[in-house]
Amino acid sequence: MSCIKAAGCDPARPCKASMVQEHFKARPDNTLLATFPKCGTTWLKALAFTVTNRFDHAATSDTHPLLTRHPQDLVPFLEMPYRQLHPIADLEKLASPRLLATHMPITLLPPCVSKLGCRVVYLFRDPKDVFVSLWQFIGKVHTEYTIDRAFDSFSEGLSPYGPIWKHNLEFWKKSIAESDKVLFLKYEEMMAEPVKHVKMLAKFLGVPFTEEEVRCGVVEGVVHLCSFDKLRSMPVNSSGVTDRIGGVPMENSSYFRAGKIGDWANHLTEEMSKKLDAIVEEKLRGSGLTF
Ligand code: A3P
Repeated sequence: MSCIKAAGCDPARPCKASMVQEHFKARPDNTLLATFPKCGTTWLKALAFTVTNRFDHAATSDTHPLLTRHPQDLVPFLEMPYRQLHPIADLEKLASPRLLATHMPITLLPPCVSKLGCRVVYLFRDPKDVFVSLWQFIGKVHTEYTIDRAFDSFSEGLSPYGPIWKHNLEFWKKSIAESDKVLFLKYEEMMAEPVKHVKMLAKFLGVPFTEEEVRCGVVEGVVHLCSFDKLRSMPVNSSGVTDRIGGVPMENSSYFRAGKIGDWANHLTEEMSKKLDAIVEEKLRGSGLTF
C-alpha cells in the first residue's frame, strides 16, 4: 500500500486541491493555520481558537468550547478528502473573521488566499519527530505499516502533501518576504516558551493581549487550557472515535500521543536519524531555516 493510500486519500476521487482551488472563496479577514501533518496542528488550532475567541469564552470558563469539542473540530480544514463529510459550502456559512486550517503546500493554496492578503500561521517541527508521529498515527489504522516502509516513503518525500522540506521551505520563504502576512512558528520553541509565543500569536492575529490581561494571567490561562496534558485528559479528547477523513474512523486520543520533543530517539536507528537529518539539511541549506 502506498503512503498516500495509507494516509486515507483515494486517488480515484477528485483531487481535493483542485476542488478547493475552484470552489473556495477566501475573504481578506481569513486566517489560515498551515502545517505539514503531525507538526502540532491540533495544538495550534486550540491556541488560535482560544486566543481569538477569548472575549466570548474566557480560557478559564467552565463552558469553554474546548471542554466539549475536539480542537480538530473547532477549526475546519480547507481541504479534506471526502468532501461529503466537509462540504466547502459549510465553510461559506462561517461568519467572518474565519479561522481555517490547511495541510496544503503553499503552491496548492487557492491564489485568492495570497491575493486577498489572508494571514497565515505556519507551524514547523523537527522532521524526525514529525515522521515518528505520522508513522504512529497511520499505524493505528494500518497495522502492517512498518517503520522501514514508512521511513522510505517519508525520506523520499512521498506524502499526500509533498516532501516535508519543500512544504517547510516554501512557507519559510513567504514568511521572510511577507512577515506581516505569514507568521512562522516552531513547535520546539513554542514548547520551551509558550507564553511568549502565545503573545506573539495574539499580536499577529490582531488581538494582542492588553497589559491588564497580561497582569491577570490571561496568557497563562490560554497556555494551560491548550497544554498537551490538559487537552489529553479531557473526556472529549481521551475517548471516542470520530471519522474526520471519511471511511477512516480514528480514536480522538490519537491526536494526543506523546507531545514531546525528541521522541524520535525512541524509534529511529542512528542510521535513520542521520539519513533524515542529512536529507533535510541539504534541502534547507542556505535558507536560514534550521531545526
Ligand atoms: P506526537 O505524536 O509526537 O505526540 P497534529 O495535530 O498536526 O496531528 O500533530 C500531532 C502531534 O502534536 C502529536 O505529536 C501530538 O501528541 C502533538 N500534540 C497534540 N496536542 C498538543 C499540545 N497541546 N501540545 C503539544 N503537542 C501536542
